[in-house]
Order: sequence, then structure tokens, then C-alpha cells
Amino acid sequence: MRSLIDIHDFTVEEIDELIKTAGDIIDNPAKYAEKCKGKKLATLFYEPSTRTRLSFEAAMMELGGNVIGFSEASSSSASKGESVADTAKVMSAYADIIAMRHPQEGAPYVASRNASVPVINAGDGGHNHPTQTLTDLLTISREKGRLENLTVGFCGDLKYGRTVHSLIAALARYKNIKIVLISPSELAIPSYVRYEVLGKNNMEYIETTDLEAALPELDVLYMTRIQRERFEEPADYERLKDSYILTEDKLMGAKSDLAILHPLPRVNEISVKIDSDPRACYFRQVKYGKYIRMALILRLLDEADGIIAPERREDLLVNKVICQNKRCITQTEQELDQLFKVTDPENGVCRCIYCEAKVFLDK
Ligand code: CP
Repeated sequence: MRSLIDIHDFTVEEIDELIKTAGDIIDNPAKYAEKCKGKKLATLFYEPSTRTRLSFEAAMMELGGNVIGFSEASSSSASKGESVADTAKVMSAYADIIAMRHPQEGAPYVASRNASVPVINAGDGGHNHPTQTLTDLLTISREKGRLENLTVGFCGDLKYGRTVHSLIAALARYKNIKIVLISPSELAIPSYVRYEVLGKNNMEYIETTDLEAALPELDVLYMTRIQRERFEEPADYERLKDSYILTEDKLMGAKSDLAILHPLPRVNEISVKIDSDPRACYFRQVKYGKYIRMALILRLLDEADGIIAPERREDLLVNKVICQNKRCITQTEQELDQLFKVTDPENGVCRCIYCEAKVFLDK
């Protein structure tokens, strides 16, 4: 049973296929109106969401299917202490496919190991948000006409911005992508992205704090909000919250065909005056999110029904060390196996299967 937990669960060819299907849905919606008749999607959202949850629900409805679920942990039995694993087993009895958002990193992966239906990661803490990445790839593909030969700037909260981590990982598989990372030093990209993704894929990248200086060379600008909910110290959020505000003045030095993306919600990092600029793609991006989720639901349900054979992800697992990441699902659900993938055998480095935190094996 294949799930989508990490963007790497799908090959580039499979992603290109999803993008093609999404394009066909945009052009021929009637063809897809009954494709999921009789099927149910469960949206299990332990964290707030507007776009992801409702675009999943709209996607399933436009495919002729039905939707069940909850939009906050407090209205589910998680508030009584039910584990993610048990919830996934229970929901498998009610639904054909699950979309889950959870504040703990790795929770959707735990669900996928326990469900008997496909699970889609709809965002796990500051870790991954692969359906936003699919949305972003579809947006770039449609707005720029290509996913290669691009200079892509990421601006804002690159530390906690899970959409940034997932999109960089996805872009690493396309040719001639140059990455420009624009953030305050406190919110710089995590080291695992710098070394495991940018470094290992020999991607050209620079890090800067200066948005205006970086703008003229960008083909795509991916703005992000500073994520208040991930800060341990409110004072740190207050100090950093207005680090970058994209204004009409700043855009004067940008290319005329720049594509400005933002996963939304916006706080105040893009002036509303820019919304009417044709380079502002973020509200079109919202629509693309629904179409790519329609394509994804179709694909995973076809695989679950045996219509398409899934690719399998093989992990090398060890159970000798303990993940120290406070945000990892293993911290709150302590009966879970401690599982790691060896990423650098020579130096005894492995990464937690759930949250990708780095741990050293004893030699
Ligand atoms: N982009 C995104 O994930 O938005 P929501 O938090 O509203 O789902």
C-alpha cells in the first residue's frame, strides 16, 4: 500500500505524470466528475488549516467522492489519549484514503505504517508538506512552462518552513536549478537540508540576508511567513516577524516574468498592493493545489485498487539509538519503535525514520 509521506515517495516521472493529470483535469473537469464515486476521504487534521484541508475536501467532492474527518485534535479521541497508530487503524475501517496533518514530525508516517489504506501527509510539524510541494511544482510548471533551468529564491522563515524543505528536495531532481536562500541568520535553512539535499545533489546555492540584492536574478520567488507557532520564545518571533516585506518598490528590480509564489497564509510579508501584479501567482497557486490533490487521490486509489503498481521505498532500519528531537512523534507516543535509516555508514550517521533528525551510532 503506497502512501505519500515525503516527496521522495514519488519519482520525478510519477510527479510529471501527476502534473499531466492535473492539467487534464483543469481542461476536462467533466471527465473526472465521477471517478471517485462511492469512495471516502478522511481528513484527520490535528492542526489548523484552511487551504490544505478544504482543498482536499473540494478535490474529493469534485471527483464524485465523499469526505469524513475532524479539523482539530480536541474534537477527536486524540484528546482522550488515543494514539496516531490506533486512529489510523480505526479510520481504515471507515475511509478509502486518509489525509493527515499533525504537529509532531513523523505522525503521518506512523499512520501509514498502521493504516490499511493510503495515507497522505498534509503537513507534519516543521518537517514536510509534500502536497504543498506538488502544488508548488504544478504552479511553477504552469506559470514558467518548465521545471528546469530556473533560479529559485526562498525568502523568510527557512528554518521552520516545511514547504521550503520539501520544495528544495523536489527541485534537486530537476536540471540546472540554482537556489537562493534569503533569511535572517536565526531562521536559516536547517543543516540537514544544506548537507543532505543541497550538498549531496551538488546544487548551486547561495545564502544571503538581502532580498533586494537577490531579486534581479530570480525566475521564481517563494515567499514564506515567519511561523509564530514554531517559536519557543515569543520575543524571538516579535523581533523577527517583519524581517522581509515584499513591496512594489522592492519589485522594481525584479524580472518582468518573475513568478511570486507563497504557500499562504500570508501575514504581512507581501504587500496587498502586489496582488494585482501579474507576477503574483499565489492565489492561482491555491487553485492548482486542488487540481494536483485530485490527481494524487486518483493515483493512490488506483494503486490501492491494483490498477497501477506502486514503486516501493526501501529503508534500512536499526533500533539501537533514541531520537532526541523534541518535536518527533516518538517523544509523545513512546511505545513506537525507534527506527533509523543509516545515511552515512562510514561515520555512523543515521536519521530518524519519522522526523529525519540526525543521530550517531555507537561504534
Ligand atoms: N499552505 C497551507 O498549508 O495552508 P493551510 O495551513 O491553510 O493548510
